[in-house]
Formats: sequence, structure tokens, C-alpha cells
Amino acid sequence: MSEQPIRRIALTTGGGDAPGLNAVIRAAVLAAVRRGWEVHGITRGFGGLLGQGSIIRLDTDSVRGITHLGGTILGTTNRGNPFEWPVVNGDGTSGTVDRSDEVVSAFRQLDLDALIAIGGDGTLEIAHRLARKGLPVVGVPKTIDNDLAVTQVTFGFHTAVQTATDALDKLHSTAESHERVMVVEVMGRNTGWIALHAGLSATADVILLPEIPYSMDAVVAKIQERYRNGRRFAIVVAAEGAVPHGGKVSLVEEAAPGRAARMGGVAERLAAEIEERTGRQTRSLVLGHLQRGGTPTSYDRLIALRFGAAAVRCVEDRSFGTMVALDPPIIRAVPIEDAIRQIKKVPLDGDSVATARDLGICLGD
Ligand code: F6P
Repeated sequence: MSEQPIRRIALTTGGGDAPGLNAVIRAAVLAAVRRGWEVHGITRGFGGLLGQGSIIRLDTDSVRGITHLGGTILGTTNRGNPFEWPVVNGDGTSGTVDRSDEVVSAFRQLDLDALIAIGGDGTLEIAHRLARKGLPVVGVPKTIDNDLAVTQVTFGFHTAVQTATDALDKLHSTAESHERVMVVEVMGRNTGWIALHAGLSATADVILLPEIPYSMDAVVAKIQERYRNGRRFAIVVAAEGAVPHGGKVSLVEEAAPGRAARMGGVAERLAAEIEERTGRQTRSLVLGHLQRGGTPTSYDRLIALRFGAAAVRCVEDRSFGTMVALDPPIIRAVPIEDAIRQIKKVPLDGDSVATARDLGICLGD
């Protein structure tokens, strides 16, 4: 029996936003419309199929002029996992329920032939579990953290690194004028991609990554060496997931049913210790969500456009349960499962770490 042709598809964006989401949406919509398909956007992630958002028609007009815009025209959430939907129990405690079957039946009621899910590890994990329930899904990898395996890079990362680099460049002059130590916290969850790339590009003196537990002695020694050598300021870049030897990640909020822990606080903690141990004035700064905003760089736009168009080609080929991945020079479809099995950490034997060491940058070990 021949398969029904594709007629109607839907797109959704989930998890934290990242520059380039709108470029993916534009490319996917235009590629689908060219094939004569109808396209619908599910707003606010998978929750849009559970009454938390809406289903909107997307056509050529709706995606005009959005390639360069940050954010997502579909909205997003990192609290919308249908398999662990947060609820308040009768006794006031919080818990979760599995509403994934409702997502599947809402999808079927809308008479959709495929779903393109754009997101990071959380969204892709949901997409994978929905695919196992029979939903025809294609994933597109997004995250500023660049921590997804299988794809060489995720869109949003390059822009976040550029934003962090610009901030570090600006901090140099004030650090030098006041002869201060500046400690800058960047995002990345349990990986140090943003910290390493921005720290290297902006010539930081110390870069602390989750992949290398740090010793305060090593950090203090590097700062003191700089002052002794007449460079009377220092720039420290710490990934939010950086941990001291034998210590724990700094959190601003513990994990709760249906939501991950929120990281943060490592820069403040480091700054206090550095000031106490070196006697040098030290200030801390958290770049936070600035790294998720703004215009995507041309590199991110291009990757995003390529991912969006490639996802539509996967739908056309009925290559479901897959994710588009950058495997230079091509984009290929890989099983979503391969991308979420484990996070992609900064390789300690890689060239960037070696470069940092060759430049005399302290990595905390
Ligand atoms: O995964 C992207 C990311 O920006 C992380 O780098 C950061 O830890 C987290 O999301 C912040 O999430 P929220 O938007 O919930 O504060």
C-alpha cells in the first residue's frame, strides 16, 4: 500500500530560546510551502497541544523578515514536558502526571502528518519518547550551550559566544583602570563551551569549566603572578557549572517536579574568595540571559536556515525519529536517541584546551 502524501505539518519550539530559532522557522515554513504543504505552529512548546498555547497557521507572510530576529515567534517554555506535567496534589504538595497520550491524540485530531520539534536535550528527549509512541517527529538541535552530541554545533552557540566575548572585551578597560579582578559567569549548564570559546577569544586569564574541577590555590596563584608581573588586573571567566575540587555546583533554585535546577552563583562565590585571599578588589558579573538574546550572527543564521530546510527534507523522506545534525560539510539525519544519550562535553585532550594552556591561561587545575 502506498503511503499518503504529506499535506499538513506542524512546528514547535521548546526549552530555553536561542538566537536562530526564527531562522529555522522561516526556512522550514518556506520549504514546506514550496512543496504545497500546509504549516501550523504550535505555540509555547508541547504545552500548546495541552491547552497551554494555540495552533496558528504559518504561511509565507507570517515568516517574512524574521531571519535576523532573536527569540521565537512561537514562544517557548522549559516547563512543558508532557511526560512530567507539573500538578499540585490535593495536599498542596507538587508532583507530575504523564499527559503524553493527550499530546498524541491532540496531534491526530489536528490531522497532522509530521511534527518538527526544535529544541535542546529536554525537548529532543520528549520528541524521542513521542516518536516511540508513534508520532512522526523530526528534531532540530538548538541550544546556546552547544552540549548536544552528534551535531558538531547547535545554532545559538556562536551568538552567545560573541555576546560573551563583547562583554569581556568591555570589562578589560574598567578592570585595568581600577586594578581589579573581574569574575564573569557565563551560561552552559554542565559544559564549558561558552566559557572556553569566549574566554579564549577575549584573552581571559583564568577560565573555569565544569569539565575541570578547579582549585582555589591555582586560581589565586595565577592572579598573584599577574600582579607581580605588573599586569595589575585580571579577568576570570567561570562557566555557571564550574565546580571546586570536591565541591558542588552553585544553584539559585533546586530541581522540582517537572523542572530542572537553576544554576548560578559561582562568580559571586569566586569573587569573595579571590578578594579575601589576594587582598585585591574583585567584582563579579553574571551575563545570564543576555547570552540568549539579540540578533543571531550570520553563522548561526546560516546553520539555522540549513537545519530548517533539512528538517523538511527529512519529513519528505519520512525519516522520522531523527534529528538533523551538522556533520561538515553536510547536514545529515541521525537518530534522536544518539543525540540525547549523553551530553557533549568539552574534550580535555582537544585543541582548544591545549591552546588555552599554551597561552598560559589558568584552567583551575
Ligand atoms: O540551556 C540554556 C540555558 O540558557 C542554560 O545555559 C541555563 O542554565 C538555562 O538555560 C537557564 O534557564 P532559564 O531560562 O530557566 O533561566
